[in-house]
Amino acid sequence: MTKQQRGVGGLAVNTIHTMDCIEGMRRLPAGSVDVIVTSPPYNIGKDYNSYDDRKPREDYLGWLAEFAAGAARVLADDGSFFLNIGGKPRDPWIPFDAVQRFRPHFELQNVIHWVKSIAIEKADMGGYENITGDIAVGHYQPVNSARYLSQCHEHIFHFTKGGDVALDKLGVGVPYQDKSNIGRWKAAERDLRDRGNTWFIPYRTIRSSRPHPTSFPEKLPEMCIRLHGCRPGMLVLDPFMGIGSTALAAIALGADYIGFEIDPEYREIAESRIAGARREKEQN
Ligand SMILES: C[S@@+](CC[C@H](N)C(=O)[O-])C[C@H]1O[C@@H](n2cnc3c(N)ncnc32)[C@H](O)[C@@H]1O
Repeated sequence: MTKQQRGVGGLAVNTIHTMDCIEGMRRLPAGSVDVIVTSPPYNIGKDYNSYDDRKPREDYLGWLAEFAAGAARVLADDGSFFLNIGGKPRDPWIPFDAVQRFRPHFELQNVIHWVKSIAIEKADMGGYENITGDIAVGHYQPVNSARYLSQCHEHIFHFTKGGDVALDKLGVGVPYQDKSNIGRWKAAERDLRDRGNTWFIPYRTIRSSRPHPTSFPEKLPEMCIRLHGCRPGMLVLDPFMGIGSTALAAIALGADYIGFEIDPEYREIAESRIAGARREKEQN
């Protein structure tokens, strides 16, 4: 029997389960998950359908600590856990307070900056012939304040059990601008270099209103899974699945997924996006 037929700990694979993730993770066997990619609520007052995003700070951090212990139990010894968390201009401590609650369970192997919007002046770029002027790209949401800067980035904390998980850095590599580097450096056998820890990932422009207040672009979980390294049959978990972005990334990469989401309406949207992605994959 395959893992898909058998399920994991009695929970069906390639399924989003409408249940609390701490309860759901309790049902998964220890060490059964290869990659976790997720974004929990940030406790910044977002209007979710079911979840209350305005908790007393200590209650919120205590809940994250409980979640962190559950995530540590289900993650494989050579697994990766990518935790995306941001703050808000008036409360920039949130990601830093939150990450401390994961410290008893994980090594912090990498800190990645998810850059949503960036401006670069031509004068600062040096000799990039193909770029002819200043650039300002991505999703820019101005903040109405004289004190605070607009939020143009969020954190992705990369946790592992021992801090020593070998990654597929060229799985998210970038082509060299200066092709003469290929072959000159020992590490540069292909036209790809390590991307580093600043990832520019814009939101897709959509005309209709967004179906979820805080969904991340599918490219974010896709890059995290690629960085960890894809293997056939690997299991990706998103405990806060929202409208299914991590499931879409897993499907695109041929991995299995399992997800939890307490809100049935978000789960329904996720299932319809997944059905669309599967249809598209079959046609291509
Ligand atoms: C930041 S959003 C995740 C969005 C997701 N990354 C996406 O791209 O759609 C957090 C989600 O967690 C869900 N949630 C909150 N508490 C939960 C819990 N205890 N168990 C499972 N899901 C929960 C919320 O309903 C919300 O959809």
